[in-house]
Amino acid sequence: MANLPLILIQIIIIFIFTQSLFATSHPPNPIPITVSVSDFGAIGDGIHYDTVPIQSAINSCPDTFPCHVTFPAPRKYLTATVFLKSGVVLNVEPGATILGGTRIEDYPRESSRWYVVLAENATEVGIGGGGVVDGQAEKFVVREDRRKNVMVSWNKTGACLGDECRPRLVGFLDSVNVRLSNITLNQPAYWCLHIVRSNNISIEDTTIYGDFNIPNNDGIDIEDSNNTVITRCHIDTGDDAICPKSYTAPVYNLTVTNSWIRSKSSAIKLGSASWFDFNHFVFDNITIVDSHRGLAFQIRDGGNVSDIVFSNINISTRYYDPLWWGRAEPIYVTSCPRDSTSKEASISNIHFINITANSENGIFLSGSKRGLLRNLRFINMNITYTRFTNYSGGLLDYRPGCQELVKHGTAGIMMEYIEGLEVKNVEMKWSNYELEQWNNPLEFKPSTVNNISFLNFNSGLYTNSKSR
Ligand SMILES: *[C@@H]1O[C@H](CO)[C@@H](O)[C@H](O)[C@H]1NC(C)=O
Ligand SMILES: *[C@@H]1O[C@H](CO)[C@@H](O)[C@H](O)[C@H]1NC(C)=O
Ligand SMILES: *[C@@H]1O[C@H](CO)[C@@H](O)[C@H](O)[C@H]1NC(C)=O
Ligand SMILES: *[C@@H]1O[C@H](CO)[C@@H](O)[C@H](O)[C@H]1NC(C)=O
Ligand SMILES: *[C@@H]1O[C@H](CO)[C@@H](O)[C@H](O)[C@H]1NC(C)=O
Ligand SMILES: *[C@@H]1O[C@H](CO)[C@@H](O)[C@H](O)[C@H]1NC(C)=O
Ligand SMILES: *[C@@H]1O[C@H](CO)[C@@H](O)[C@H](O)[C@H]1NC(C)=O
Ligand SMILES: *[C@@H]1O[C@H](CO)[C@@H](O)[C@H](O)[C@H]1NC(C)=O
Ligand SMILES: *[C@@H]1O[C@H](CO)[C@@H](O)[C@H](O)[C@H]1NC(C)=O
Ligand SMILES: *[C@@H]1O[C@H](CO)[C@@H](O)[C@H](O)[C@H]1NC(C)=O
Ligand SMILES: *[C@@H]1O[C@H](CO)[C@@H](O)[C@H](O)[C@H]1NC(C)=O
Ligand SMILES: *[C@@H]1O[C@H](CO)[C@@H](O)[C@H](O)[C@H]1NC(C)=O
Repeated sequence: MANLPLILIQIIIIFIFTQSLFATSHPPNPIPITVSVSDFGAIGDGIHYDTVPIQSAINSCPDTFPCHVTFPAPRKYLTATVFLKSGVVLNVEPGATILGGTRIEDYPRESSRWYVVLAENATEVGIGGGGVVDGQAEKFVVREDRRKNVMVSWNKTGACLGDECRPRLVGFLDSVNVRLSNITLNQPAYWCLHIVRSNNISIEDTTIYGDFNIPNNDGIDIEDSNNTVITRCHIDTGDDAICPKSYTAPVYNLTVTNSWIRSKSSAIKLGSASWFDFNHFVFDNITIVDSHRGLAFQIRDGGNVSDIVFSNINISTRYYDPLWWGRAEPIYVTSCPRDSTSKEASISNIHFINITANSENGIFLSGSKRGLLRNLRFINMNITYTRFTNYSGGLLDYRPGCQELVKHGTAGIMMEYIEGLEVKNVEMKWSNYELEQWNNPLEFKPSTVNNISFLNFNSGLYTNSKSR
């Protein structure tokens, strides 16, 4: 260095300086500051509230640097709402748990901000570290019920109305550059992970567990947000597992890969809140196990859906108690106006490639008069239809709204209001017993289905003595 001309040294200094300017404004500084909640007095006995030490640790983070707030193990940190701020990543160590409070006074006044961990208007925020965030849903159960548990509703104060007044687990609202990585989200009292009006979200190596008998414990709700990547996640929930919704703005660019899902409702569901468009989604290499519905579109409010690809997906769907939504359809694509004030919407350019399904009910494809399904492609599919529960079938499910439930035999693919359908290399196998309610491999509502092509489509009975 000593021999370098001064000008070169100046260039190097300017270079380093501008790099660090960039580092603080755009990509985060690679060496974050680390603070521990223990240093701020957190006890972590799961009994005393650690709200103040946790919030003090977060607030101690400087405004301009990335900051990791560590929750040391083995400890359980009981807390009221934790407010994240820009640059802060919670680092919950393996064996450590952030435990959400179960009292209404643990949460902000407005029910729209009832979360155990909440980021608002934040950038470069996240949660990781290998530990757990737990919503203690079991403590919100008023009455256990074999069919569906009855839950507490905090509606007495009027802060929230109805029977779904409970805190969500983790929320990122109006935020940018959000990252969840290597974290377990357990037992949300209501929705689990809620992304709202946000951009550039990454959710990796995240495990979500919600009791199979607790209502409304959705896995991941992506609302009015763009550019979300979900990968290597394991989601086991009572309510819908991955659920894009649009209330005030569209949802663009959602990619979900290499994940495992079980849901007593829909594994993947677009809607039903669908006031704006859903566009450019990719779902690849996903295993869907014993779910009440597999890949679902429930478009009801006028937002149009286009360019969605599902590839390399293994689905098994079955009936559960009808108190839960779903009728064992492996694929369910519906667009109809929710009520007389709703607009019709189209669903177009939807591709299903390399799909294996084992299901108790058929595929349901249903547009409406002015809300057509356009250009659907089903390529390389093996579908096996078997009955293995005792719940009765024989219904088409148009809910919410529309024609509600309609009695109808089970078809392999039921089609209505479609313009452009390509079916190629599709093998449909039917179990040779319990044939009551099975109908045709293909059923069209006459003169509402146009421009269709079938190539190498097969349907036949199979004998399998050891089918479930
Ligand atoms: C977030 O930003 C919005 C719009 O600028 C503002 O109304 C709201 O108060 C902000 N919320 C917080 C918690 O800063
Ligand atoms: C999760 O974090 C723990 C602790 O840092 C680490 O040992 C483990 O390898 C991480 N797992 C993944 C998938 O990143
Ligand atoms: C409050 O919740 C209870 C229990 O879920 C429900 O029966 C009741 O209708 C709700 N009341 C109001 C005003 O929302
Ligand atoms: C997206 O967010 C991640 C952090 O989660 C960040 O590393 C990346 O730079 C962001 N991308 C853009 C284009 O800002
Ligand atoms: C998502 O993209 C759409 C279209 O560009 C835009 O209107 C909307 O505001 C974006 N939403 C967010 C949260 O960035
Ligand atoms: C969606 O992703 C594409 C790149 O794949 C990008 O060009 C586009 O801007 C993204 N849309 C939004 C709204 O961010
Ligand atoms: C598919 O996802 C599983 C995890 O669910 C992973 O083990 C496997 O490597 C992935 N396959 C490909 C081809 O990426
Ligand atoms: C959906 O598409 C129709 C027909 O192109 C259009 O009239 C309507 O405004 C679109 N809906 C939205 C929410 O943009
Ligand atoms: C799909 O999953 C079932 C069990 O979950 C398994 O038996 C079957 O081999 C899988 N099929 C494919 C094509 O991966
Ligand atoms: C479908 O599966 C075939 C054979 O396994 C594979 O070659 C092809 O790349 C897959 N297609 C997609 C879109 O993943
Ligand atoms: C469907 O089954 C055939 C024959 O067993 C197999 O070659 C093909 O890979 C399977 N396709 C899918 C998408 O599982
Ligand atoms: C279905 O009902 C029959 C007779 O009612 C009973 O023997 C059988 O165990 C039931 N099967 C299942 C899976 O519940």
